[in-house]
Amino acid sequence: MGESGNRRILITGALGQIGMELLDALQTKFGSENVIASDIRDPQDVNDSSFRYERLDVLDSEQMENIIRDNDINEVYHLAALLSATGEKNPQLCWKINMDGLMNVLELARKYKFRIFAPSSIAVFGADVGKIAKQESPLNPATMYGVTKVAGELMADYYHSAHGVDIRGLRYPGLISWKVMPGGGTTDYAVEIFHKAVASEAYTCFVREDTKLPMMYMDDAIKATLQLMDAPSDKLSVRGGYNLPSLTFTAKELYDKIREKIPDFKCEFKPDHRQEYADSWPDETDGTLSKEEWDFSLDFDLESMCDAMIQSLSQ
Ligand SMILES: NC(=O)c1ccc[n+]([C@@H]2O[C@H](COP(=O)([O-])OP(=O)(O)OC[C@H]3O[C@@H](n4cnc5c(N)ncnc54)[C@H](O)[C@@H]3O)[C@@H](O)[C@H]2O)c1
Repeated sequence: MGESGNRRILITGALGQIGMELLDALQTKFGSENVIASDIRDPQDVNDSSFRYERLDVLDSEQMENIIRDNDINEVYHLAALLSATGEKNPQLCWKINMDGLMNVLELARKYKFRIFAPSSIAVFGADVGKIAKQESPLNPATMYGVTKVAGELMADYYHSAHGVDIRGLRYPGLISWKVMPGGGTTDYAVEIFHKAVASEAYTCFVREDTKLPMMYMDDAIKATLQLMDAPSDKLSVRGGYNLPSLTFTAKELYDKIREKIPDFKCEFKPDHRQEYADSWPDETDGTLSKEEWDFSLDFDLESMCDAMIQSLSQ
């Protein structure tokens, strides 16, 4: 397929935090008739049927092949995964879904020659990285989720070099959004806090107030995804996962910023087991390469992100 050719798209894990937003963006850009959402759950769960939908467990490679072949799919956004906190509760299942699911997509891409977007994560980094993670920082993750993301990046490199599969990936930081609640990651506190603030309820934050993690507003993550998939293949030196620039603020700085806008809001900090995962990740990511190779930069800072979250959730 040419890079600006007609896209016929399949999204896996489409009912999740990123999927529902990416679905909207892809429908707007390429037409709703050209985008099929799929997930292991039914869309009724999220009360929406304004899109083409197929029930698909990514471990069922036969069903995946049927959908891809029957709809002549030429681009797959592979979002189905178990995230960090959920994955640590069941590491074997995390490995199975994240790795076997990806392998199924990669093997079908060899056969049907479609392009793949498969996200990585800041969870690829471990405590040896220090405060700022660079593109080439060591990848020694502390969670099974991180292990699957490192292995996924290596698989992307391998299938690209050995089999010519056009796969692309981003190391998303924690994503802050309002349409769908996040699905069991360590950065979920940065979304939950807004829901409580707007509902005039108190929030108990599950990390310490000095916890600093790389974050991004969802609109910037969607922009990065579309921009990466539009970039000419020969401009890309990375296949598994580009670092992105990120926002960085402590949980307390986020609380203070929200309180500037909702003065009565109260938050207390009671770290649980997720603190350990947060402590193993960097504070910030260096996204120089994404700027150099496909011209990415952020539109949202902490202030505008907070305004957008509060305004959207208040409506
Ligand atoms: N949200 C973030 O902050 C973030 C950060 C870094 C990376 N990522 C990555 O982005 C991708 C999407 O994340 P998300 O936040 O939307 O996650 P999410 O948990 O909100 O959504 C994942 C979706 O996958 C579905 N799913 C689970 N098992 C499945 C299976 N066997 N077959 C088909 N579908 C299945 C779930 O039903 C869910 O709708 C993942 O690869 C994740 O690792 C997310």
